[in-house]
Amino acid sequence: MTTALRLIQRIKGREARIGVVGLGYAGLPLALRFAECGFAVSGFDVDGEKVTAINAGQSPIHGIADGRVAAARIEAHEEFAAAHECDAILICVPTPVGPHKEPILEPVRQTLASLAPHLRPGQAIALESTTYPGTTEEFVLPALAKAGLRVGKDAFALYSPEREDPGNPDGTFGKVPKLVAGATPECLEVGLALYGAATPHLVPMSSLAAAELTKLYENVFRAVNIGLVNELKRISHALDIDVHEVIDAAQTKPFGFMPFRPGPGLGGHCIPVDPYYLAWKARELGVPSDFVELAGRVNDAMPRYVIGRLRDALDVRGVALRGARVLLLGLAYKPGVPDTRESPAIEIFRLLEERQARVAYHDPLVPRFPATRRLHGQAPDLESQPLTPALLEAQDAVLIVTPQPGIDFAMVREHAPLVVDTRGVYRDAAVRVSGADALQLEMRGDFPSAAIPAYHRVIQA
Ligand SMILES: NC(=O)c1ccc[n+]([C@@H]2O[C@H](COP(=O)([O-])OP(=O)(O)OC[C@H]3O[C@@H](n4cnc5c(N)ncnc54)[C@H](O)[C@@H]3O)[C@@H](O)[C@H]2O)c1
Repeated sequence: MTTALRLIQRIKGREARIGVVGLGYAGLPLALRFAECGFAVSGFDVDGEKVTAINAGQSPIHGIADGRVAAARIEAHEEFAAAHECDAILICVPTPVGPHKEPILEPVRQTLASLAPHLRPGQAIALESTTYPGTTEEFVLPALAKAGLRVGKDAFALYSPEREDPGNPDGTFGKVPKLVAGATPECLEVGLALYGAATPHLVPMSSLAAAELTKLYENVFRAVNIGLVNELKRISHALDIDVHEVIDAAQTKPFGFMPFRPGPGLGGHCIPVDPYYLAWKARELGVPSDFVELAGRVNDAMPRYVIGRLRDALDVRGVALRGARVLLLGLAYKPGVPDTRESPAIEIFRLLEERQARVAYHDPLVPRFPATRRLHGQAPDLESQPLTPALLEAQDAVLIVTPQPGIDFAMVREHAPLVVDTRGVYRDAAVRVSGADALQLEMRGDFPSAAIPAYHRVIQA
């Protein structure tokens, strides 16, 4: 019997042990799902706190219940020796970009170096991290060859990208179709058996690079469309048209249109980052990637645009941005998660500090302002403020960056002197650009702020 068939039999009989490297937003749900499908699972992570939490049956990831982690009985490790026992090892480590938007594959390199002494015949290694086409071939195949393993005969190389949507119970492994590619037909056969044991929806692909490119295309598609709708928002503001009305209307077309919503910029580990992996590869190939780069530029410009809208709205009220009290609502990059990676709120905070505004924030899921790359690894000494009428009334402006669940937006509108809404929370009530002129007229009459009707206190940005 071939090594591939033996491994497939071990998978089908649930005798195989699954290893997952990187127990974060992508890796932990994957590990849990395999455990829930009857496999013994080992987890590996360089973050000792995560390892300790998982071994104690506690979830280190918001939205994943402790009980689920406790029931799965994943054996988590900081060291890699137990990788030797694993029949399949799935790599879910970060793939960020550097200061010049170049791919940083150090975590993948490090993982393979840590695994090297523990590789043996009969194992499958699957890369799940998002990356440029060619990565699995450049990194995983040489690691197997170095260990003296023949790919497709002794060991099996796969690429199968994560398609996790944190905070969305339907956007997780087991519910979302899974792309699977192998370095050889035998590898693909092993890959289909492996993932097929934990999810019913498989999409076999003809090559590793095609699967790598598919994942990037999916995320570039989002980045480009968000860039487009953010540009449309700026044009709409200049035309005094509500962009949300336009999107709602366009959405009634039953074919050839998919709605995207504008916002304060892009956030998270994927959409602001992954497109640059494609752009980088295209540059290497000497092929243009104009859409990708343009979307990046448009989306990266949004925090400055929002600050401009805020400054104009304050000006109308005779308040300078310098020294103004500004409350940020929502630090996370999207509603329902505590994840602040690449969140536009961080850049907005930085720009406000630079302009010497007095900034506070409220985010029910982010109790302390985190240290981030954009702030040179420093964490501002700020805690989430309880959202009360008194807090709102003490501000010059409230800037909605991320509408976290549980925020009482009716109270915000009632008590904040000015609300700058980047997400269309109040899209039916918002005053648009020329609304600011109307407001100015009203202000010239020296009305006290409380006399301004609540709907005049909201502008879209
Ligand atoms: N977060 C998402 O929604 C999402 C969705 C789809 C794909 N992805 C992709 O999945 C990959 C992982 O992203 P994530 O969001 O899960 O990141 P994450 O930061 O939440 O988790 C990654 C984990 O890997 C660990 N790690 C880093 N270097 C390691 C090493 N050398 N050895 C062992 N562990 C190491 C970290 O400590 C961390 O716990 C990325 O390529 C990302 O693009 C993420």
